[in-house]
Amino acid sequence: MGGIAYVNGRYLPIAAAAISVEDRGFQFADGVYEVIALHRGVLIDEEPHFARLSRSLAAVGMAWPMPKPALRAVIREVARRNRVDDDGTLYLQVTRGVSPRAHAFPAGLRPTLAMTARRLPAFTFERARQGVAVITLADQRWSRCDIKSVALLPNVLGKQRAAESGAFEAWLIAGDGTVTEGTASNAWIITKGGEIITRPLGHAILGGITREAVRCLAAENQLALVERPFTVAEALAAAEAFLTSTTSFVRPVVRIDDKPVGDGRPGPLTERLLRLYMQRMDQAATVTARARAGVKG
Ligand SMILES: Cc1ncc(COP(=O)(O)O)c(C=O)c1O
Repeated sequence: MGGIAYVNGRYLPIAAAAISVEDRGFQFADGVYEVIALHRGVLIDEEPHFARLSRSLAAVGMAWPMPKPALRAVIREVARRNRVDDDGTLYLQVTRGVSPRAHAFPAGLRPTLAMTARRLPAFTFERARQGVAVITLADQRWSRCDIKSVALLPNVLGKQRAAESGAFEAWLIAGDGTVTEGTASNAWIITKGGEIITRPLGHAILGGITREAVRCLAAENQLALVERPFTVAEALAAAEAFLTSTTSFVRPVVRIDDKPVGDGRPGPLTERLLRLYMQRMDQAATVTARARAGVKG
């Protein structure tokens, strides 16, 4: 089903929306992006997504495509025009702009801003708790994976390999044998002692907004969390494993390279974190809906 895209000031049917062949996003993957979930029509974690976009733009020396309040308004308008009044996602891309193809960029380019939004089936615990398989692959990406760049070829090829293997995701393995993250998600394990482990932030991984939410939820609920790298052997010896992302939330990982994690079923602590995460989304949606309706307290 076709939706409406926003491109540089215009709202158009997706089939009619177009970007110049000389857009540097197309020519060089010279751009950054964000994916934001909507629950009950409310943007989840808008502020952290804006903060990460700000970091990505600064890291590649690109300007904001428009003032932030205007950007917030366009985001809402794209969601509205695509009737994302319940659950869905919004995709936002900023590229350095259009110029005759040359690696170095001229000063003063006007950034390209493009956005789409999609309705999704209702986010339910039952769907989100379905365990998934992952495969492992060498991490062949660049050394600034903390920037949410649209240069995703290794991620695309990794995810495709996973799909062809009947798996949901590929966990990427650094030269030292540790897991960095998934092609489109952060990677976690839970030890038999109940310790929740994920790789620390740094240039090797994208600082996931869901990762940060889960980190806070663990702290609020007095769950032991340690940020340190872990190996595939540790993951296979763990009690539970899971991955996090804006669209997968907290997803149990039940098989790695065709070997079971724990008893091969979604684990209790993973399910607890998923419940907490979904409750948090519900609360955010309720607070925003009440604020919109002008309800106090
Ligand atoms: C490489 C990578 N790591 C992690 C994530 C998870 O980030 P977030 O929780 O902000 O969706 C993503 C999301 O697309 C990703 O592409």
